[in-house]
Amino acid sequence: MRALLPLLSVCRGWRVGAAARPPRRVMSLYRTEERGHPHSEDYRLFFKNVAGHYISPFHDIPLKVDSPKNLFNMVVEIPRWTNAKMEIATEEPLNPIKQDVKSGKLRFVPNLFPYKGYIWNYGAFPQTWEDPCQKDKNTDFYGDNDPVDICEIGSKVFSRGDVIQVKILGALALIDQGVTDWKIITINVNDPDAEKFHDIGDVKKFKPGYLEATVNWLRLYKIPDGKPENKFAFNGEFKNKAFALEVVNNAHECWKAMLMKKCDSGTVNCTNVCVSDSPFRCTPEEARSLVESVPTLSMSKEGNIEEERWYFLD
Ligand SMILES: *[C@@H]1O[C@H](CO)[C@@H](O)[C@H](O)[C@H]1NC(C)=O
Repeated sequence: MRALLPLLSVCRGWRVGAAARPPRRVMSLYRTEERGHPHSEDYRLFFKNVAGHYISPFHDIPLKVDSPKNLFNMVVEIPRWTNAKMEIATEEPLNPIKQDVKSGKLRFVPNLFPYKGYIWNYGAFPQTWEDPCQKDKNTDFYGDNDPVDICEIGSKVFSRGDVIQVKILGALALIDQGVTDWKIITINVNDPDAEKFHDIGDVKKFKPGYLEATVNWLRLYKIPDGKPENKFAFNGEFKNKAFALEVVNNAHECWKAMLMKKCDSGTVNCTNVCVSDSPFRCTPEEARSLVESVPTLSMSKEGNIEEERWYFLD
């Protein structure tokens, strides 16, 4: 029972408030706080709830907003048309967003002519995990050890760290170096055209070319780094909404098992402040001291030529 009351007050925002109000009028329940400089290795974007308590965007933001209505939370990691490969740091306590580092260098995705950076708002479903110890029954490959990725196709360009509500429309199964890496196609529920989108067929109908561009982009984006083309299960065919919902629900079950310590969490840091009965739960005070112990060096921000270079592939 230790610290039960303060924990309840930290977590009430999503348990009660999120379900009670219609989506359109909900103000964001989350805030972010930057530490370190963007485009440096010490950059971290931490999440807080409205009460100002630190939370984990991976574990403490609920997956479902209003489950009978197909509404899910999305954590925006990468705004559309940008290049910096920002992602939830699954291995760090409280899982801030940071820029991926490969071979000692900050990672940027290339501009693959005619695409500028990412062609969707890109992010992840909180409270999902593609278990690397479990074979995906649809692809027959193990999970990639990350939350499930999202390509959001609405018209607005979001900001890094935004938590938005999306409708699930379909799914694409990328196979990345032998592991399953689902990309779920969604639309912001507050997009002016959201009512027209119910399933994957509506994307073909109302945004012709977007799904083709999506497969093409995902197939080719590692080529400028000297890597082979990415592969897809199901011949790169998009699966429908019902299928995508099942993928996300399965990944939610895997995440639950991990947070309850019912499977091997491997390299994932499961520290959270809101998940009832999780052995990894900590108090808001402990969460604060975890954040405050993260060193931030002051490095000056460099201009990034990576974002200005273009690649033309045959
Ligand atoms: C997560 O981070 C906390 C705080 O640094 C640490 O005590 C704990 O051992 C980590 N857990 C895992 C599974 O890495």
